[in-house]
Amino acid sequence: MSGSQQASIHGEWGSRWAFVLAATGSAVGLGNIWRFPYVVGEYGGAAFILVYLGCILLIGLPVMIAEILIGRTGRQSPINTMRTLPARYGAKPVWQILGWLGVVAGFLVLSFYSVVGGWSLAYVPYTMTGAFTGADTATVDEFFSTLLGSPGRLLLWHTLFMAFTAWIVMRGVEQGLEKAVRLLMPILFFLLLVMVGYGMGAGAFTEALEFMFTPDFSALTGQAVLVAMGQAFFTLSLGLGAIMAYGSYLSSRSSIPVNSGAIAGADTLIALIAGLAIFPIILAAGLDMQQGPGLVFVTLSYGFGQMPGGLLFGTVFFILLSFAALTSAISIMEPATAYLVESRGWQRPLATATIAGAAWLLGIGSLLSFNAWSGYTLFELNFMEIAEYLSTSIMLPLGGLLIALFVGWVMPLQVSEGELAFGNRWLYRSWLIAVRYVVPVAIAVVFLNALGVLG
Ligand code: PFF
Repeated sequence: MSGSQQASIHGEWGSRWAFVLAATGSAVGLGNIWRFPYVVGEYGGAAFILVYLGCILLIGLPVMIAEILIGRTGRQSPINTMRTLPARYGAKPVWQILGWLGVVAGFLVLSFYSVVGGWSLAYVPYTMTGAFTGADTATVDEFFSTLLGSPGRLLLWHTLFMAFTAWIVMRGVEQGLEKAVRLLMPILFFLLLVMVGYGMGAGAFTEALEFMFTPDFSALTGQAVLVAMGQAFFTLSLGLGAIMAYGSYLSSRSSIPVNSGAIAGADTLIALIAGLAIFPIILAAGLDMQQGPGLVFVTLSYGFGQMPGGLLFGTVFFILLSFAALTSAISIMEPATAYLVESRGWQRPLATATIAGAAWLLGIGSLLSFNAWSGYTLFELNFMEIAEYLSTSIMLPLGGLLIALFVGWVMPLQVSEGELAFGNRWLYRSWLIAVRYVVPVAIAVVFLNALGVLG
């Protein structure tokens, strides 16, 4: 018998749309607009994008279906779900590791995510006061460096972002979230299209298309493939239990495969459009493609400064980007919050405040890595780079690997087939082959290849 007949103690989504919107809100965020363009810039463009798209389709989509499936079958916080389900299926308790790995990864991700969410908040008043209007590239560059050089300002915005996040999570995930996503996501999408339109007219659009879609595989390193795979997990919010927690509030009548396809499709579209909005400006203005995490902030503030109506568009854009970041950050907090409420009997506000506080503290390491601690590095990576690499490129794919193995080999086939209700044997079979063989082998090969083991 599957457990999905009961509802979760934390409540259930009001409608099928509420889940799709919340999960899309989780998926679409800084990963699409901040991280995607900067890693594409760093790792050289089209070949990286193709690997990334392959990872979304062959690894991300099957794992998303699997992660929601585990959540809905377990109906508890990821930690407790990974305690009860293995016991129910007669498997060893080691699978608990999956729940804990997710919580640790969640802390790491949230800590630097809040720092970058803070940058986005900081750019609202900058843009609104016209600081970028007509500014040249050196000025917008300087602006970003000044922000990074000031721990006090970074701390202020990081604190604000984390406080907003905690405030929303305290009130319960579904409250208000549905409306926010339904209203704001389309506007954000529209603004990205405005930027693409601007890039078509004023930017180096053809060169950007070439950069994004004419691959040169010879330059692709094992590291780049690992980063592309990590980015696929990060952007789809997979591997740390966020989508699993949201799945545990999903009604048993809603189709997991259909929902997953919609979420992954929307997320991928937004990342590609963000690329089309950003690369033409970079190429036309001669900005440094490999400048790293500042890429989007510098490029877009320059673009808004040049275009007609840029003051308004830019201000609204950074407000919406902050919202998109918030709807992702709250999903990162959900697994640990649900666990403290469920197993420790904590009140939701206390649980939220504790988790936010801990992640906030860890985030200070990230914001100092741009100034006071910039000299402290390990393997040439600073604190934030370590948090980002360890979580995104290692822990999320590892979580995905365990998720795939669990549903593929431990969960009885009657349960997965019944719950997923593909309505088509061939589709179910393909998904099963993906989680049993394709995903585990692909992740293992990418890991080994990055380590240099495969030559
Ligand atoms: N998917 C989010 C983004 O693209 O910004 C980030 C994220 C959210 C990662 C939730 C992981 C997660 F569990």
